[in-house]
Amino acid sequence: MKTKEIIEQTDKYYLPVFGRNQIALDHGKGCKLYDVEGKEYTDFLAGIAVNGLGHAHPAIVQAISEQAGKLIHCSNLYYTEIQAKAIKVISEVSGFERVFLCNSGAEANEGALKLVRKYGVAKSTEKFKIISAVHSFHGRTMATLTATGQNHYHEGLNPLPVGYEYVPYGDIVALEEAMDENVCGILLEPIQGEGGVHVPTNEYLLKARALCDKYDALLIFDEIQSGICRSGKWFAWEYSGARPDIMTMAKAIGGGFPMGAFVTTERLAHVFAPGDHGSTFGGNPLSCAAAYASLTTMKAMNLEQVAAETGTYFKMQLEELQKQFPNKIMEVRGKGLLLGMELTKAGAPIVKGCLERGMIINCTADTVLRFVPPLIISKKEIDALMNVLKEVLEEF
Ligand SMILES: Cc1ncc(COP(=O)(O)O)c(C=O)c1O
Repeated sequence: MKTKEIIEQTDKYYLPVFGRNQIALDHGKGCKLYDVEGKEYTDFLAGIAVNGLGHAHPAIVQAISEQAGKLIHCSNLYYTEIQAKAIKVISEVSGFERVFLCNSGAEANEGALKLVRKYGVAKSTEKFKIISAVHSFHGRTMATLTATGQNHYHEGLNPLPVGYEYVPYGDIVALEEAMDENVCGILLEPIQGEGGVHVPTNEYLLKARALCDKYDALLIFDEIQSGICRSGKWFAWEYSGARPDIMTMAKAIGGGFPMGAFVTTERLAHVFAPGDHGSTFGGNPLSCAAAYASLTTMKAMNLEQVAAETGTYFKMQLEELQKQFPNKIMEVRGKGLLLGMELTKAGAPIVKGCLERGMIINCTADTVLRFVPPLIISKKEIDALMNVLKEVLEEF
């Protein structure tokens, strides 16, 4: 099929919920993507912080292909060797004792929210309040969109689940004021992604930790976007040392294959009794094979260090650009390869201009260009993007 036909057929049948770019992608290799007409693009989005090892990484392709020929799905009513291997490596890279596997970020957060509710309500029927931050993004199920501190995701969906409160992100005083003994959990992204790439201070995350300890509440860090080496550490909270009680992950964990997970401590291992939580597909053999291959490869490559080094270079180049275009670029933010560049006006034309020139970037929160490339992106590819951005910004 040609691009036009693919677009027409998709727009005819798919629910119109996405604002899609007018290209049809066919395949990828490393940091390159190719559309059905054969045009090459350099990928600075990685499926929104998903393909950490790039496209068609041989270890992931081989693991999925071999597992597909053996067993795609069974049920969590049975044990599989590949699941045993995958959860061991997830426990090792995260430093948490217990793992639950699901299929997406929203599901991971949904499970974590259930766990903190169970924990709180078991202590007191009033202890059900969950605090999250303004500009956060936690998913699109009813509980996770309610936890998401952005009004436009709530519109038209009332009544929303009760017991959610929002505080301005990064504001220690506001967090302190919102806390009391009826809070069962705080849910925060250690770096906000979709909300515009906002990095809090270490003190803020440490304060959240201390407040949870003080009020016997649980701290959940949503590392769905910031985790799995993206920030220059395996998980972004590590910069602060504020170890959460529960951490959620998804996106990059399966190397592009759909998977989500939350991890927690041995202390909280029995908050859920058998039957309290579960998933038909969560932890299926195919996703576990993808995750095992992905995570062991990342570990062997010390990919968190690679992301830290490349990210430092990338950020410096963006800051140079800001010096050249002070009236168009307000700020450069982020850590590792989770970078944002805030513009003085809407960024959609820049995304379009880059796409026309073979560069895939993204804009979030209307004015923030977001760069979340595969973690194997090269300096040469970053330099090429800078040349394109310069050209596009001159016209902007
Ligand atoms: C921080 C964060 N949490 C949760 C989600 C939801 O993940 P999913 O789309 O896999 O449900 C996202 C997705 O962008 C995210 O960035």
